[in-house]
Amino acid sequence: MSTLTRLQDLQFSQHTLNKFATLMAAGNGYLGLRACHEEAYTEQTHGMYLAGFYHRSSAVETTELVNLPDVLQMRIELDGEIFTLLSGTVTDYHRELDLACGELRRSLVWHAPNGKRYQIVCQRFLSAAQHSLLCSRVAITPLDDNARVTISTGIDATQTNSGRQHLDETSVRVFEQRYLQGCYRTLDGSNELVISSFCALPAESCSSFYAKNRRLTQHCSGKVAKGETFELVKTNWITSSLDSDYHSASCSEQALNKLMQCVERGYEQLLAESNQVWETYWQRSRVQLESQNSQDQIALDFALYHLFAMTPAHNEKCSIAAKGLTGEGYKGHVFWDTEVFLLPFHLMTQPEIARQLLSYRWHNLAGALAKARKNGWQGALFPWESAWSGEEETPEFAAINIRTGLRQKVASAVAEHHLVADIAWAVDAYYQVTGDDGFMRERGVALLLETACFWMSRAVEANGRLELHDVIGPDEYTEHVDNNAYTNYLAYHNVERARHYLQQFALPDDDFIRQADRFLARIWLPEAREDHVIAQDDSFFSKPTLDLTSYKEQQGTQAILLDYSRAEVNEMQILKQADVVMLAYMLPSQFTPAQLAANLDYYEPRTIHDSSLSKAIHGVIAARCGRREQAYQFWQQACLIDLGDEPHSCDDGIHAAATGAIWLGAVQGFAGLTVECGELHLNPCLPEQWQSISLPFVWQGVRIQLTLTHQQLSVTSSSEKPINLHLGNTALQITRAATFSLADFFTPLTGSGTTKGTPL
Ligand code: BGC
Repeated sequence: MSTLTRLQDLQFSQHTLNKFATLMAAGNGYLGLRACHEEAYTEQTHGMYLAGFYHRSSAVETTELVNLPDVLQMRIELDGEIFTLLSGTVTDYHRELDLACGELRRSLVWHAPNGKRYQIVCQRFLSAAQHSLLCSRVAITPLDDNARVTISTGIDATQTNSGRQHLDETSVRVFEQRYLQGCYRTLDGSNELVISSFCALPAESCSSFYAKNRRLTQHCSGKVAKGETFELVKTNWITSSLDSDYHSASCSEQALNKLMQCVERGYEQLLAESNQVWETYWQRSRVQLESQNSQDQIALDFALYHLFAMTPAHNEKCSIAAKGLTGEGYKGHVFWDTEVFLLPFHLMTQPEIARQLLSYRWHNLAGALAKARKNGWQGALFPWESAWSGEEETPEFAAINIRTGLRQKVASAVAEHHLVADIAWAVDAYYQVTGDDGFMRERGVALLLETACFWMSRAVEANGRLELHDVIGPDEYTEHVDNNAYTNYLAYHNVERARHYLQQFALPDDDFIRQADRFLARIWLPEAREDHVIAQDDSFFSKPTLDLTSYKEQQGTQAILLDYSRAEVNEMQILKQADVVMLAYMLPSQFTPAQLAANLDYYEPRTIHDSSLSKAIHGVIAARCGRREQAYQFWQQACLIDLGDEPHSCDDGIHAAATGAIWLGAVQGFAGLTVECGELHLNPCLPEQWQSISLPFVWQGVRIQLTLTHQQLSVTSSSEKPINLHLGNTALQITRAATFSLADFFTPLTGSGTTKGTPL
């Protein structure tokens, strides 16, 4: 494997503090920690989050992922000068996140205002081997003279979610004059949190402790000779009542024991243990490119790093928040992003994680059934935004319009129902890739049935057929429409799959089958016009268009809403994100090649791409049209959503779905690896700039490594079991290893390519 990327920040700047705090955030799926500096900067947004640890501070507020007490900050004083990069001068500044193992390292030489120089090296990691463990190390070497070092650090519970406090301090203690511990409870008493910390210091240093104003602090000081190093290693153990082995009565003692065991092992050993887990992860999932643009590999490594960091693989009652564990955007809620943009990566690399993500929905079925009932429908209506309980968490109103003083109602919870079918789509995808009968019998079929029942009750009789009225498709700039193509087709797919699996697993329900047959025969599936374009909804073609050039230039900012009200935008052909194009991505077999191209060409000029979920999907469809140049442009732009110069993710956190989409673009778009009707298909369309792509995936329990160049495909598998693969239109059977010349299966693409190569 080629060396993994190190994400670098080569110059300290107050302007990019929060950009890098997000990009370089640490995470192990259990905890996430923004990459803030140890020393304080007012601009810096601190954040540490624990998957599933939500709280609602009052009935009028929304449930949010709690920003936990801080253990990272250190007030460092060197010979009486407070260390900050805002005073004195800094040389040899280097900061990097090693994506191979998630260790963040910073080194610099600080020329203090008093003229003395100090070399400072900071390191930290969240353990991938022990989820509760966070270690940091600070090493200070005076370069000019002997020095006096004082460091104050501890557990700081003054952290809030933008000023909102979610935790009561239930106890703060110092044990054996060494171990700090803070115990907290959410204000509603539903969850508990225990944070224990220990600072290892040079033998001759001394410490004092104090607790004041929600801060438990250790004040350490010592002397260090010129050229020698003063080192502080802080080990933290963070647990909560969400852990399966948490017992309120013994949690404090248990946590201390765990902390002590870690302290004994020391930073290097703990890091080595964590590194092993990362190594396995990269072996199972890394996509490797030979590309003319080194940025491409960086983008993929970055995406996969965050896909690991954000995924709560330890607990099937948690799912992935829209910003992972890197910020408070969308309050840490879970959207369709998980099933459609994130789950496919897990499904193809670690299917057991995909199973867990689906199980999260299964555990929350009760909430979905209740929401459907409450609105007069049957089956399961999953909440548009979900947290711990499975109840609808979408805020009723969007941010206040400061010009009018009015708040706009958020319509998604009321009408953005495609999520229901997206979950069913993911269940079907899971079964196709894994053939996991056990999951289907226990959970999958129930999810399919209840979601299907929802659609059957949601459809209305109109125009001599069944229609779906008053919905919002993925394009949220078009609200309350009838027969959104995406929704109708996905609903059809949902009911058809439920019917299929019910029969496959011989679960007799004649009533359901009758209803499903009626629905499938009568639900309106918007048809393509003569020019192959499918209407996004009933009213779409009758709306005027607008030149979107300037808004496209500012995409991601929703600048259009500064010039037009939402109601006005709703009455024009303006898309926030892919909708019919999204449908083509989800259900490729529904589209002919001509329809694929026509819909891409019709809708893209009408799409601002204000959602981070849009660009990469356009890239996949362009690749499926054989337009490698266009596909590459979309994909590269999608890679910049977080990695670009001015990402919108600085305070809010990473765009989780966009990281999944980077993988989708490379694997499903360029490599052209898809699963259709239970079969594995490969229709590559590599960008000219790439010489090769190599990727691992799992198919029916077999681990496969696939390498593609412009000329050749090689496949190796970990098992004797034969693998069936469709290369273009040719069905192949591969055992262990095989190499194919692509010229035997496809006509080569010319230049930018306009049509997909067809089999010879
Ligand atoms: C998008 C939704 C997405 C949500 C969370 C919104 O801006 O329009 O499709 O689910 O962000 O990422």
